[in-house]
Amino acid sequence: MSKTSDIAPDPELCNGPAHVAIIMDGNGRWAKLRGRPRLFGHHAGVKRVREVIKAAPHLGIEYLTVFAFSTENWKRTQAEVAGLMSLFRRYIAHEARALDAENVRVRFIGDRVKLDAKLVGLMDELEELTRDNTRVNLTIALNYGGRDEVARATQRLAEEVAAGRLKPEDVDEETLPRFLDTHVLPDPDLVIRTSGEARISNFLLWQSAYAEYEFVDTLWPDFSAQELEDLCRKFGTRDRRFGAVPK
Ligand code: FPP
Repeated sequence: MSKTSDIAPDPELCNGPAHVAIIMDGNGRWAKLRGRPRLFGHHAGVKRVREVIKAAPHLGIEYLTVFAFSTENWKRTQAEVAGLMSLFRRYIAHEARALDAENVRVRFIGDRVKLDAKLVGLMDELEELTRDNTRVNLTIALNYGGRDEVARATQRLAEEVAAGRLKPEDVDEETLPRFLDTHVLPDPDLVIRTSGEARISNFLLWQSAYAEYEFVDTLWPDFSAQELEDLCRKFGTRDRRFGAVPK
């Protein structure tokens, strides 16, 4: 099957973010406003995921990371959790071919241990199917928590030290991220949260140390490619100094 080829992004966006990470919030409120169950909002949210994946390459976004389910989301009702897990299974099963045809490389981050075997199997298959794709790197955070990720990384790092493969004095800012779920990804340049909440809720804690943040009022099911483009253009006007003094 022929695949969508890599494309040159809009040249006006050459100062845009290479890695955009999104906290997709507001599905529940969007559904409530319409007198519908929360899962209706999550299903509407899937359409926005599709839209931002399609828009990303035109905006110069090489890496797109979306927060689909946090380590804290298990506290929701059993019905909502089961509905979300079923939505993830269906999303992967139904969209695998389209994502591959669009030349999207898909990865998952988060702890898979608590996820059901069927879902984990689909995740593994999708990662394998799309491993050679190059147009855009989509990372889906599923049962992901930043603190949990750092704790799991530290455990593996401690095992390396205990086995004598790593010296304690060699553990530094370069070493630890090699054990994070995101070890093959660059740090996010721009983190967007929808729905008017101004917090990061345990998302990419280590990786976002120097990210720019945008908190927008739009509820996730109303978020659009146009709004993403506006935020990317705004990002291009920011002066990122990474702690240094401006020249
Ligand atoms: C937060 O909104 C949203 C979630 C916990 C689920 C996000 C999932 C999707 C957008 C579905 C599709 C994702 C993929 C990758 C297929 P909320 O429920 O907390 O909204 P509220 O704050 O208004 O209650």
